[in-house]
Amino acid sequence: MVDTVVRLTEQDARAIVELAALAPSIHNTQPWRWRLDGTGLHLFADPERLLQVADHEGRQLLISCGAALAFARFAVRSRGLVPEVTYGPLEETGPPTARDPLATITVTGRQPATAAETDLAQAIAVRHTDRRPFLAGERGRLGPDDVSALRRAAETEAAWAWFVEDTDSRITASVLLSRADWQETHDPAYAEELLRWRRDSTTAADGLPAEVVGGVAESRQSEFVLRDFDVARGDTSSVAPSRGTPAGGGAAPAPVEHPVLLAVGTDSDRPVDRLLGGAATGRVLLTATERGLAASPLGQVLDLPALREQLRASFGLAGHVQMLLRVGRPDPDLPPLAATPRRPVDEILDVA
Ligand SMILES: Cc1cc2nc3c(=O)[nH]c(=O)nc-3n(C[C@H](O)[C@H](O)[C@H](O)COP(=O)(O)O)c2cc1C
Repeated sequence: MVDTVVRLTEQDARAIVELAALAPSIHNTQPWRWRLDGTGLHLFADPERLLQVADHEGRQLLISCGAALAFARFAVRSRGLVPEVTYGPLEETGPPTARDPLATITVTGRQPATAAETDLAQAIAVRHTDRRPFLAGERGRLGPDDVSALRRAAETEAAWAWFVEDTDSRITASVLLSRADWQETHDPAYAEELLRWRRDSTTAADGLPAEVVGGVAESRQSEFVLRDFDVARGDTSSVAPSRGTPAGGGAAPAPVEHPVLLAVGTDSDRPVDRLLGGAATGRVLLTATERGLAASPLGQVLDLPALREQLRASFGLAGHVQMLLRVGRPDPDLPPLAATPRRPVDEILDVA
C-alpha cells in the first residue's frame, strides 16, 4: 500500500469527484463509484450499470471509467496536487466487478498547476458530446495544429490517435458502422436496453434525455451512421429507410456529412488498456473542446466484438481500437448544447 504524502480531504475529494463525474460514459450510465479512505481515492466499477447487451464484456464500462479517472487526475492537478495512479488488481477475464478498485489515486506532493493543466481542467465543464452536423468543406477543416494536438493528447495517455483518412479505411469504417447499426437496431434486446436508459427530461440524474439525443439520426446523410437513440421508441423497420430523406418530404436533402474520423487505440487490449483508452479518449475530447472543436463517439462498431476485430484488421493497425470519434468544427449559428445530467456526488462518493 502506498503511503500518501498529502492526505486528500473530504472537500478535495468532493470537488475532484464532481469533475470526474462529467466524464463521458456509454449511454450516460456513469458506471463508477469512488471511495475516499486513508490510503487514497479509489475508483470502482459499478457493475449494476453494465449494459448487458451493448457491452456484455464491460469493455465500454472500462473505457468510461478510464475517462472518469483521467478527469479526476486533471482535477487533482488543477488543485495544485500531484496525483499518482495505481491500477487494480484488475480481473483479466469477465466483466468488471465491484470487489477491487479499478484504480487508486494518491497524492504524492504539491506543485502549482501549469496554465495548460488549468485549461485542461476548465474544459471539463464545457465539453459535451456534439452529435449535430459539423461545418462542411474548407470552413470545417482541422488545421495541422489541431491534428498534432489531438494526436499528442492520446500519446500523453500511453495510447495513440489515428486519423482515418485513406479512402479504403473510410469506406470500411462506414460499412462496418452501418453493419453494426443494422444488427443492433434489429435486435429487440438492444432496443429494450436502450429504452431503459432513455429519459424524458434532463431532471433525471443519468441516462439519455430526449433533448440531447432525440432525432439524432433523423434526416441525416452522413458518411458514418450515428447511433440512433430513437430506435428503442418504435418500430425499427421504419428507421433505416427514413435516414437521409428530408423531414417533411419535399425540401432538399441535407448535404452528406464527411466528418474527420479519429480512432483512439492502445497497443494491447488488457483491462488496463481499456482504462488507458478511456483516459486517452477523455484527454482527446478535452483538447478538442479547448481548441473549439466538437466530437461525438461512433460506438456501434465497438459494441460488437467481430465487427470491432474486422475494423482493426482492415485498418492494418498493430494495436486495438478503443474508441472511434467523429470530429469537426461546430456550426457557430447553432445554439449551445444542452448538458446531459449527472448523478450528485453524494450518490457516487463514499467517505470511510
Ligand atoms: C465508451 C463510450 C461509448 C459511447 N458511444 C456513443 C455512441 O455510439 N454514440 C453517441 O452518440 N454517443 C456515444 N457516447 C457518448 C455518451 O452518450 C455521452 O458521453 C453521455 O451521454 C454523456 O454526455 P456528454 O458526453 O455530453 O457529457 C459514448 C461514450 C462512451 C464513453
